[in-house]
Amino acid sequence: MSQWIRVASVSDIHPKKALEFEHQGRVIAVFQVGDTYHAIDGICPHQGGPLAEGELDGTCVTCPWHGWQFDVASGKTPLGSRVKQDVFPVKVEGDAVLVEVP
Ligand code: FES
Repeated sequence: MSQWIRVASVSDIHPKKALEFEHQGRVIAVFQVGDTYHAIDGICPHQGGPLAEGELDGTCVTCPWHGWQFDVASGKTPLGSRVKQDVFPVKVEGDAVLVEVP
């Protein structure tokens, strides 16, 4: 059963600084693009790189280890349709950023 959890304050995340958090053994990365927040599986499926530490260009994050790229809004990658990161709903309530986790 999914639940909304508070992961940060709005001021903790900005376009040049993503947030990484762990929930029940799962690492999730939260990005800000414009006024919108996106959350995806934070572990790169290539060799486990930390996507929250990747460079963000628009909605595209580049894994800091070997350069795989993912759209933080859709979880998709230009590498092909067989690779896709899970995405998680995000909402803001007051100063709090909340992510819906499974
Ligand atoms: S671990 Fe992410 S590209 Fe290799």
